[in-house]
Order: sequence, then structure tokens, then C-alpha cells
Amino acid sequence: MMYSEKVMDHFMNPRNVGEIPDADGVGQVGNAKCGDIMKMYLKIENDVITDVKFKTFGCGAAVATSSMATELVKGKTIDEALRITNKAVAEALDGLPPVKMHCSVLAEEAIKAAIEDYKRRNGLTDNNGTCEACCRRCEDIHHHLDGED
Ligand code: FES
Repeated sequence: MMYSEKVMDHFMNPRNVGEIPDADGVGQVGNAKCGDIMKMYLKIENDVITDVKFKTFGCGAAVATSSMATELVKGKTIDEALRITNKAVAEALDGLPPVKMHCSVLAEEAIKAAIEDYKRRNGLTDNNGTCEACCRRCEDIHHHLDGED
């Protein structure tokens, strides 16, 4: 299996590893297929992500994609961050082997989960406390788990 230099770099030297104790939003997601887990912490000021940290208990591709995802969301507004797809994360890493694409889904979901948490804490949700991003996320996960991708 061939990994790009960028994947190897972010795997060996992951950026923004750790926790933010007073985070404004925390999201944890798991991949039901492999059992890997990712937790993401966000500091948000005036809708802008000012700091981000992550912890991933997972494969090398999951570590590399989380690391790249944190770099991509930093300085973005929450709306911009919500539009970051797992494909965009993988592209920023110069690609992932096809069998490892599912690992990048974890990074996208962790961003969305952390932003949802922020919205929930700040009363910015609708649908009885479930924000739109969350509904979309659940749908995506079901498609993903059903193998529809
Ligand atoms: Fe589980 Fe990569 S094998 S996230």
C-alpha cells in the first residue's frame, strides 16, 4: 500500500494533537467497522474556529487525516468548516489508498460533531436539539455503513 509523503508526514508528526480543557465544542466519533475513535476539541470565537486539537485512537490514515483536518478548520468559520468533506481532507494529503478512504470519514464526522456540540451548547440547534448538520451526518453514516458511500 502506497501512502503519499504528506500522509506519512502527518502520521509521523501529527499537528494539533491534544485536548482543549475549556473547549467550546467537543466531538467524538467512532468507525463501527474498525472500532477506531477520534475526538476533536474546538475553541470558537464569533463563529470562527480559533483553536483546535484532536486525539485519535486509530490507524495511520486516521491520524494523518485528523491532523490535516485540524489544519484545514483552523481560522475558518463554522459554516466553512461544515463544508469540509472527507474527500477534501484526503485531497489535501495528496490522496489516500482507496481502502483507506473510510478512515478520512472519521475526520469529517469529528469536525461536524464538535460543531454540533458547540451549537447545542449555545442554543443554535433546531429539530428538537438536533442541528441540520447532525441529521445530514447520521444519514451519511448510515449510507457509509450500508456500503453505499
Ligand atoms: Fe479505522 Fe482507519 S482503519 S479509521
